[in-house]
Amino acid sequence: MKTLLTERLILRDWCEDDIGCSVYNEDDIRYLINAKNNYAIVLKENNEIIGTIGLNEDADGKENVRNVGVRIVPQHQNRGYITEALRAVIGSVRDITDTLSWFCKAEDLRSQHIAKKFGFVYVKTFAKAQHNLPSDFYYYILDKNSNSF
Ligand SMILES: CC(C)(COP(=O)(O)OP(=O)(O)OC[C@H]1O[C@@H](n2cnc3c(N)ncnc32)[C@H](O)[C@@H]1OP(=O)(O)O)[C@@H](O)C(=O)NCCC(=O)NCCS
Repeated sequence: MKTLLTERLILRDWCEDDIGCSVYNEDDIRYLINAKNNYAIVLKENNEIIGTIGLNEDADGKENVRNVGVRIVPQHQNRGYITEALRAVIGSVRDITDTLSWFCKAEDLRSQHIAKKFGFVYVKTFAKAQHNLPSDFYYYILDKNSNSF
């Protein structure tokens, strides 16, 4: 995907040279390289890889919807990095997709806060027992026609 720059971050494709970084193991990085839809989140100040953000298969199986997958390593969480990265990604996908989805654990208040902050709207809950999940998961949608997309 096209490299994106924000105030503090570089969002760029995963590559073979990233194998050996402390964020993911080799199998995970090879998966992310092959998936071709996930950015490595890199700090401009020192080139450290601190997480990932990508546009993945929708959790509800909708073909025109991309699920936003995010992760920041624990030592860098709660510093506004996903807020900054997500703003850039949302800005860059306007021509690619009409709709984004967000899928997070019911107990993950931080992820829910971020979803609502960006205007994602709660749609439904995927119940743990019914879907063989580790927890109940909330499913949100952000429509291209909403103000924040
Ligand atoms: C969820 C995650 C990606 C967020 O990334 P991050 O860089 O830490 O997020 P940010 O710092 O940009 O934003 C965190 C926001 O949550 C808020 N927040 C933090 N803890 C919170 C809580 N317990 N309840 C509600 N809001 C909370 C912060 O105040 C901030 O909001 P603000 O900018 O409006 O003040 C990251 O914490 C992570 O990787 N967690 C583990 C993996 C995971 O849960 N992935 C999500 C799957 S959807």
